Amino acid sequence: MTTNIDELETQLFAQLESANDEQALEDLRVNALGKKGSVSELLKGLGGMSPEQRQEFGPKVNGLKTKLNDLINAKKNNLQEAALEARLLSERIDVTLPATPRRAGSIHPIMQVFEEVSTIFADMGFAVKEGPDIEDDFHNFTALNFPEKHPARDMHDTFFMQPSEDGTRKLLRTHTSPVQIRTMTSEKPPIRIVAPGRTYRCDFDQTHTPMFHQIEGLVIEEGVHMGHLKGVLMEFLARFFEVEEAAVRFRPHHFPFTEPSAEVDVRCDRSGKELKIGTGNDWLEILGCGMVHPNVLRACGIDPDVYQGFAFGLGIDRLAMLKYGIPDLRNMFESDVRWLEHFGFEAFFAPSITSGLSR
Ligand code: DAH
Repeated sequence: MTTNIDELETQLFAQLESANDEQALEDLRVNALGKKGSVSELLKGLGGMSPEQRQEFGPKVNGLKTKLNDLINAKKNNLQEAALEARLLSERIDVTLPATPRRAGSIHPIMQVFEEVSTIFADMGFAVKEGPDIEDDFHNFTALNFPEKHPARDMHDTFFMQPSEDGTRKLLRTHTSPVQIRTMTSEKPPIRIVAPGRTYRCDFDQTHTPMFHQIEGLVIEEGVHMGHLKGVLMEFLARFFEVEEAAVRFRPHHFPFTEPSAEVDVRCDRSGKELKIGTGNDWLEILGCGMVHPNVLRACGIDPDVYQGFAFGLGIDRLAMLKYGIPDLRNMFESDVRWLEHFGFEAFFAPSITSGLSR
Protein backbone atom coordinates (compact mmCIF):
# COMPACT_ATOMS: atom_id res chain seq x y z
CA MET A 1 0.00 0.00 0.00
CA THR A 2 2.80 2.40 0.97
CA THR A 3 4.59 1.78 -2.32
CA ASN A 4 1.26 2.25 -4.04
CA ILE A 5 0.91 5.68 -2.48
CA ASP A 6 4.53 6.61 -3.13
CA GLU A 7 4.30 5.47 -6.74
CA LEU A 8 1.09 7.35 -7.28
CA GLU A 9 2.61 10.44 -5.71
CA THR A 10 5.65 10.33 -7.98
CA GLN A 11 3.42 9.79 -10.97
CA LEU A 12 1.03 12.60 -10.09
CA PHE A 13 3.82 15.09 -9.38
CA ALA A 14 5.41 14.26 -12.72
CA GLN A 15 2.09 14.97 -14.40
CA LEU A 16 1.79 18.22 -12.44
CA GLU A 17 5.24 19.21 -13.61
CA SER A 18 4.35 18.80 -17.25
CA ALA A 19 0.87 20.36 -17.08
CA ASN A 20 1.41 23.73 -18.70
CA ASP A 21 -2.06 25.13 -19.17
CA GLU A 22 -5.23 25.43 -17.15
CA GLN A 23 -6.97 22.65 -19.02
CA ALA A 24 -4.16 20.16 -18.30
CA LEU A 25 -4.26 21.12 -14.61
CA GLU A 26 -8.01 20.67 -14.52
CA ASP A 27 -7.72 17.23 -16.16
CA LEU A 28 -5.14 16.23 -13.57
CA ARG A 29 -7.40 17.42 -10.75
CA VAL A 30 -10.33 15.38 -12.07
CA ASN A 31 -8.20 12.25 -12.66
CA ALA A 32 -6.69 12.37 -9.16
CA LEU A 33 -9.13 14.14 -6.90
CA GLY A 34 -12.43 13.83 -8.77
CA LYS A 35 -15.14 11.38 -7.69
CA LYS A 36 -13.51 8.46 -9.46
CA GLY A 37 -9.99 9.88 -9.25
CA SER A 38 -6.96 7.77 -8.23
CA VAL A 39 -6.47 9.53 -4.87
CA SER A 40 -10.19 9.42 -4.13
CA GLU A 41 -10.19 5.67 -4.80
CA LEU A 42 -7.41 5.23 -2.25
CA LEU A 43 -9.38 7.26 0.27
CA LYS A 44 -12.38 5.04 -0.29
CA GLY A 45 -10.18 2.00 0.38
CA LEU A 46 -9.45 3.28 3.92
CA GLY A 47 -12.97 2.19 4.97
CA GLY A 48 -12.13 -1.51 4.53
CA MET A 49 -8.86 -1.39 6.53
CA SER A 50 -8.09 -2.39 10.06
CA PRO A 51 -7.80 0.52 12.54
CA GLU A 52 -4.00 0.14 12.64
CA GLN A 53 -3.67 0.15 8.87
CA ARG A 54 -6.00 3.13 8.69
CA GLN A 55 -3.86 4.98 11.19
CA GLU A 56 -0.82 4.43 9.09
CA PHE A 57 -2.25 5.10 5.64
CA GLY A 58 -5.01 7.60 6.47
CA PRO A 59 -2.70 10.58 7.12
CA LYS A 60 -0.55 9.66 4.11
CA VAL A 61 -3.45 9.57 1.62
CA ASN A 62 -5.05 12.66 3.09
CA GLY A 63 -1.69 14.40 3.05
CA LEU A 64 -1.27 13.55 -0.61
CA LYS A 65 -4.75 14.84 -1.37
CA THR A 66 -4.16 18.19 0.35
CA LYS A 67 -0.68 18.65 -1.09
CA LEU A 68 -1.76 17.86 -4.63
CA ASN A 69 -4.79 20.13 -4.35
CA ASP A 70 -2.66 23.02 -3.07
CA LEU A 71 -0.02 22.52 -5.74
CA ILE A 72 -2.62 22.41 -8.52
CA ASN A 73 -4.23 25.60 -7.22
CA ALA A 74 -0.92 27.37 -6.87
CA LYS A 75 0.12 26.43 -10.39
CA LYS A 76 -3.27 27.55 -11.73
CA ASN A 77 -2.82 30.92 -10.07
CA ASN A 78 0.64 31.27 -11.55
CA LEU A 79 -0.65 30.50 -15.02
CA GLN A 80 -3.48 33.04 -14.64
CA GLU A 81 -1.13 35.72 -13.45
CA ALA A 82 1.26 35.07 -16.31
CA ALA A 83 -1.64 35.27 -18.79
CA LEU A 84 -2.79 38.57 -17.29
CA GLU A 85 0.75 39.91 -17.41
CA ALA A 86 1.02 39.01 -21.08
CA ARG A 87 -2.33 40.68 -21.82
CA LEU A 88 -1.37 43.84 -19.99
CA LEU A 89 1.80 44.05 -22.02
CA SER A 90 0.17 43.40 -25.37
CA GLU A 91 -2.92 45.58 -24.75
CA ARG A 92 -1.14 48.63 -23.53
CA ILE A 93 -3.14 51.83 -24.22
CA ASP A 94 -1.42 55.10 -24.99
CA VAL A 95 -3.66 57.63 -23.28
CA THR A 96 -1.64 60.50 -24.73
CA LEU A 97 -2.77 59.72 -28.31
CA PRO A 98 -5.33 62.20 -29.70
CA ALA A 99 -8.94 60.92 -29.50
CA THR A 100 -10.64 59.65 -32.66
CA PRO A 101 -13.19 62.32 -33.53
CA ARG A 102 -16.80 61.13 -33.22
CA ARG A 103 -18.63 62.24 -36.31
CA ALA A 104 -22.37 62.76 -35.95
CA GLY A 105 -24.65 63.49 -38.89
CA SER A 106 -26.81 66.59 -38.97
CA ILE A 107 -30.25 67.58 -40.15
CA HIS A 108 -30.11 69.23 -43.58
CA PRO A 109 -31.45 72.83 -43.53
CA ILE A 110 -34.12 71.83 -46.05
CA MET A 111 -35.39 69.05 -43.78
CA GLN A 112 -35.24 71.44 -40.84
CA VAL A 113 -37.36 74.00 -42.70
CA PHE A 114 -39.82 71.31 -43.89
CA GLU A 115 -40.30 70.38 -40.25
CA GLU A 116 -40.63 73.98 -39.09
CA VAL A 117 -43.14 74.89 -41.81
CA SER A 118 -45.21 71.71 -41.40
CA THR A 119 -45.26 72.22 -37.64
CA ILE A 120 -46.59 75.79 -37.93
CA PHE A 121 -49.33 74.75 -40.36
CA ALA A 122 -50.16 71.65 -38.32
CA ASP A 123 -50.69 73.96 -35.33
CA MET A 124 -53.17 75.89 -37.49
CA GLY A 125 -55.12 72.70 -38.22
CA PHE A 126 -53.60 71.74 -41.59
CA ALA A 127 -53.06 68.06 -42.39
CA VAL A 128 -49.79 67.09 -44.12
CA LYS A 129 -50.21 65.34 -47.52
CA GLU A 130 -47.79 63.87 -50.01
CA GLY A 131 -48.02 63.10 -53.70
CA PRO A 132 -45.84 61.29 -56.26
CA ASP A 133 -42.78 62.97 -57.81
CA ILE A 134 -43.63 61.36 -61.16
CA GLU A 135 -46.90 62.89 -62.29
CA ASP A 136 -49.17 62.84 -65.31
CA ASP A 137 -50.27 65.73 -67.46
CA PHE A 138 -53.76 65.75 -65.90
CA HIS A 139 -52.64 66.34 -62.30
CA ASN A 140 -49.69 68.62 -63.09
CA PHE A 141 -51.32 70.79 -65.78
CA THR A 142 -54.80 70.06 -67.16
CA ALA A 143 -56.79 69.87 -63.92
CA LEU A 144 -54.92 72.95 -62.72
CA ASN A 145 -56.41 74.89 -65.64
CA PHE A 146 -53.18 75.22 -67.65
CA PRO A 147 -54.13 76.05 -71.25
CA GLU A 148 -52.99 73.63 -73.95
CA LYS A 149 -50.24 75.98 -75.15
CA HIS A 150 -48.90 77.13 -71.77
CA PRO A 151 -45.10 77.58 -71.81
CA ALA A 152 -44.64 75.38 -68.70
CA ARG A 153 -45.76 72.45 -70.83
CA ASP A 154 -42.79 73.13 -73.04
CA MET A 155 -39.90 70.70 -73.22
CA HIS A 156 -37.56 73.51 -72.14
CA ASP A 157 -39.01 73.77 -68.64
CA THR A 158 -40.30 70.33 -67.78
CA PHE A 159 -38.57 66.96 -67.50
CA PHE A 160 -40.72 64.56 -69.52
CA MET A 161 -40.43 60.76 -69.51
CA GLN A 162 -40.33 58.76 -72.76
CA PRO A 163 -43.88 58.63 -74.20
CA SER A 164 -45.74 55.41 -73.44
CA GLU A 165 -47.53 53.35 -76.13
CA ASP A 166 -50.71 55.42 -75.98
CA GLY A 167 -48.62 58.56 -76.62
CA THR A 168 -49.01 60.06 -73.12
CA ARG A 169 -45.91 61.24 -71.31
CA LYS A 170 -45.32 61.17 -67.59
CA LEU A 171 -43.25 64.00 -66.13
CA LEU A 172 -41.38 65.05 -63.02
CA ARG A 173 -43.83 67.35 -61.27
CA THR A 174 -42.95 71.00 -61.80
CA HIS A 175 -44.70 72.11 -58.59
CA THR A 176 -46.50 70.62 -55.58
CA SER A 177 -49.87 71.90 -56.86
CA PRO A 178 -50.86 68.44 -58.26
CA VAL A 179 -51.34 67.36 -54.62
CA GLN A 180 -54.29 69.83 -54.55
CA ILE A 181 -55.92 67.84 -57.33
CA ARG A 182 -55.15 64.48 -55.73
CA THR A 183 -56.66 65.69 -52.45
CA MET A 184 -59.77 67.28 -53.94
CA THR A 185 -60.55 64.22 -56.08
CA SER A 186 -60.24 61.84 -53.12
CA GLU A 187 -61.62 63.87 -50.20
CA LYS A 188 -64.69 65.95 -49.54
CA PRO A 189 -64.52 69.53 -48.19
CA PRO A 190 -63.78 70.93 -45.70
CA ILE A 191 -60.16 70.47 -46.80
CA ARG A 192 -57.18 72.04 -45.07
CA ILE A 193 -53.84 70.59 -46.16
CA VAL A 194 -50.21 71.40 -46.78
CA ALA A 195 -48.16 69.28 -49.18
CA PRO A 196 -44.37 69.46 -48.84
CA GLY A 197 -42.17 67.78 -51.42
CA ARG A 198 -39.59 67.72 -54.20
CA THR A 199 -40.23 69.51 -57.49
CA TYR A 200 -38.29 69.63 -60.78
CA ARG A 201 -37.57 72.10 -63.56
CA CYS A 202 -34.81 72.52 -66.17
CA ASP A 203 -33.00 75.39 -64.48
CA PHE A 204 -29.56 75.93 -62.97
CA ASP A 205 -28.01 79.04 -61.45
CA GLN A 206 -27.28 80.55 -58.02
CA THR A 207 -30.95 80.45 -57.01
CA HIS A 208 -32.24 77.59 -59.21
CA THR A 209 -31.48 73.88 -59.23
CA PRO A 210 -33.15 71.18 -61.37
CA MET A 211 -34.56 69.64 -58.19
CA PHE A 212 -35.93 71.94 -55.53
CA HIS A 213 -38.58 71.91 -52.80
CA GLN A 214 -41.98 73.44 -52.32
CA ILE A 215 -44.82 73.33 -49.88
CA GLU A 216 -48.33 73.73 -51.18
CA GLY A 217 -51.27 74.89 -49.09
CA LEU A 218 -54.95 74.35 -49.83
CA VAL A 219 -58.10 75.27 -47.93
CA ILE A 220 -61.57 74.48 -49.33
CA GLU A 221 -64.57 75.37 -47.23
CA GLU A 222 -67.86 77.25 -47.56
CA GLY A 223 -67.41 80.97 -47.03
CA VAL A 224 -63.60 81.06 -47.23
CA HIS A 225 -62.29 84.37 -48.62
CA MET A 226 -59.04 86.23 -49.24
CA GLY A 227 -59.04 87.69 -45.73
CA HIS A 228 -58.55 84.16 -44.37
CA LEU A 229 -55.70 83.63 -46.81
CA LYS A 230 -54.01 86.85 -45.67
CA GLY A 231 -54.47 85.96 -42.00
CA VAL A 232 -53.01 82.47 -42.42
CA LEU A 233 -50.00 83.77 -44.35
CA MET A 234 -49.24 86.58 -41.88
CA GLU A 235 -49.46 84.17 -38.96
CA PHE A 236 -47.22 81.71 -40.75
CA LEU A 237 -44.58 84.29 -41.74
CA ALA A 238 -44.41 85.81 -38.25
CA ARG A 239 -43.91 82.40 -36.66
CA PHE A 240 -41.48 81.16 -39.27
CA PHE A 241 -39.24 84.23 -39.13
CA GLU A 242 -39.74 84.47 -35.36
CA VAL A 243 -40.94 88.09 -35.40
CA GLU A 244 -43.83 89.86 -33.67
CA GLU A 245 -45.59 90.78 -36.90
CA ALA A 246 -44.87 90.17 -40.57
CA ALA A 247 -46.64 92.79 -42.69
CA VAL A 248 -47.45 91.56 -46.19
CA ARG A 249 -48.23 93.17 -49.51
CA PHE A 250 -50.36 91.39 -52.12
CA ARG A 251 -49.36 92.17 -55.71
CA PRO A 252 -51.76 91.10 -58.48
CA HIS A 253 -50.31 88.24 -60.48
CA HIS A 254 -51.40 85.41 -62.73
CA PHE A 255 -51.52 81.69 -62.05
CA PRO A 256 -53.79 79.49 -64.17
CA PHE A 257 -55.14 77.68 -61.08
CA THR A 258 -56.19 80.72 -59.01
CA GLU A 259 -58.43 83.74 -59.61
CA PRO A 260 -57.64 86.28 -58.35
CA SER A 261 -53.96 85.44 -57.99
CA ALA A 262 -51.31 87.31 -56.07
CA GLU A 263 -47.66 87.33 -55.30
CA VAL A 264 -46.99 88.12 -51.67
CA ASP A 265 -44.14 90.28 -50.42
CA VAL A 266 -43.11 90.48 -46.78
CA ARG A 267 -41.80 93.64 -45.10
CA CYS A 268 -38.04 93.61 -44.74
CA ASP A 269 -34.98 95.70 -44.01
CA ARG A 270 -31.96 95.50 -46.32
CA SER A 271 -30.12 98.53 -44.92
CA GLY A 272 -27.81 96.61 -42.58
CA LYS A 273 -25.44 93.77 -43.34
CA GLU A 274 -28.10 91.16 -42.76
CA LEU A 275 -31.54 90.98 -44.26
CA LYS A 276 -34.18 91.48 -41.54
CA ILE A 277 -37.72 90.25 -41.99
CA GLY A 278 -40.68 92.02 -40.33
CA THR A 279 -39.23 95.54 -40.03
CA GLY A 280 -37.93 98.17 -42.46
CA ASN A 281 -39.21 99.89 -45.59
CA ASP A 282 -38.42 97.25 -48.18
CA TRP A 283 -40.37 94.31 -49.54
CA LEU A 284 -39.26 90.80 -50.33
CA GLU A 285 -41.17 88.46 -52.64
CA ILE A 286 -41.94 85.33 -50.70
CA LEU A 287 -44.74 83.24 -52.25
CA GLY A 288 -47.57 82.83 -54.75
CA CYS A 289 -51.24 82.40 -53.86
CA GLY A 290 -54.83 83.04 -54.78
CA MET A 291 -58.44 81.89 -54.64
CA VAL A 292 -58.82 78.46 -56.22
CA HIS A 293 -60.10 78.86 -59.82
CA PRO A 294 -63.67 77.57 -60.38
CA ASN A 295 -62.34 75.44 -63.28
CA VAL A 296 -59.99 73.65 -60.86
CA LEU A 297 -62.84 72.95 -58.45
CA ARG A 298 -65.00 71.67 -61.32
CA ALA A 299 -62.20 69.43 -62.62
CA CYS A 300 -62.21 67.79 -59.17
CA GLY A 301 -65.99 67.43 -58.98
CA ILE A 302 -66.47 70.21 -56.42
CA ASP A 303 -69.31 72.71 -57.00
CA PRO A 304 -67.75 76.23 -57.15
CA ASP A 305 -71.13 77.78 -56.33
CA VAL A 306 -71.06 76.06 -52.94
CA TYR A 307 -67.36 75.90 -52.04
CA GLN A 308 -64.57 78.43 -52.22
CA GLY A 309 -61.00 78.12 -51.18
CA PHE A 310 -57.51 79.48 -51.34
CA ALA A 311 -54.16 77.99 -52.22
CA PHE A 312 -50.56 79.03 -51.88
CA GLY A 313 -47.14 77.74 -52.88
CA LEU A 314 -43.86 78.38 -51.10
CA GLY A 315 -40.29 77.59 -52.08
CA ILE A 316 -38.74 75.72 -49.18
CA ASP A 317 -35.16 76.17 -50.36
CA ARG A 318 -35.68 79.94 -50.63
CA LEU A 319 -37.16 80.07 -47.12
CA ALA A 320 -34.14 78.15 -45.78
CA MET A 321 -31.74 80.49 -47.60
CA LEU A 322 -33.48 83.57 -46.17
CA LYS A 323 -33.83 82.34 -42.60
CA TYR A 324 -30.40 80.77 -42.23
CA GLY A 325 -28.34 83.08 -44.47
CA ILE A 326 -27.42 80.52 -47.13
CA PRO A 327 -26.03 82.40 -50.13
CA ASP A 328 -26.00 79.77 -52.90
CA LEU A 329 -28.75 77.22 -53.48
CA ARG A 330 -26.48 74.84 -55.37
CA ASN A 331 -24.39 74.09 -52.25
CA MET A 332 -27.51 72.55 -50.69
CA PHE A 333 -27.21 69.52 -52.97
CA GLU A 334 -23.44 69.05 -53.18
CA SER A 335 -23.11 66.89 -50.05
CA ASP A 336 -20.01 68.74 -48.89
CA VAL A 337 -19.54 67.60 -45.29
CA ARG A 338 -18.00 70.95 -44.25
CA TRP A 339 -21.07 72.78 -45.57
CA LEU A 340 -23.41 70.30 -43.90
CA GLU A 341 -21.60 70.68 -40.58
CA HIS A 342 -21.83 74.46 -40.83
CA PHE A 343 -25.47 74.79 -41.93
CA GLY A 344 -26.89 71.52 -40.54
CA PHE A 345 -28.89 71.14 -37.35
CA GLU A 346 -28.41 68.79 -34.46
CA ALA A 347 -31.13 66.19 -34.42
CA PHE A 348 -31.89 67.23 -30.86
CA PHE A 349 -33.04 70.65 -32.06
CA ALA A 350 -35.24 69.44 -34.88
CA PRO A 351 -38.79 70.43 -34.03
CA SER A 352 -41.54 67.94 -34.62
CA ILE A 353 -45.27 68.13 -34.86
CA THR A 354 -45.49 66.93 -31.28
CA SER A 355 -42.68 68.98 -29.73
CA GLY A 356 -43.38 72.31 -31.44
CA LEU A 357 -40.81 74.88 -32.51
CA SER A 358 -39.30 75.86 -29.17
CA ARG A 359 -35.72 74.80 -28.58
N1 DAH B 1 -47.41 76.28 -58.25
C1 DAH B 1 -46.81 77.59 -58.20
C2 DAH B 1 -45.38 77.52 -58.68
O1 DAH B 1 -44.78 76.49 -58.68
C3 DAH B 1 -46.83 78.13 -56.81
C4 DAH B 1 -48.22 78.47 -56.40
C5 DAH B 1 -48.71 79.72 -56.67
C6 DAH B 1 -49.01 77.54 -55.80
C7 DAH B 1 -50.00 80.04 -56.35
C8 DAH B 1 -50.32 77.84 -55.45
C9 DAH B 1 -50.80 79.12 -55.73
O2 DAH B 1 -51.13 76.98 -54.85
O3 DAH B 1 -52.07 79.41 -55.40
O4 DAH B 1 -44.83 78.50 -59.07
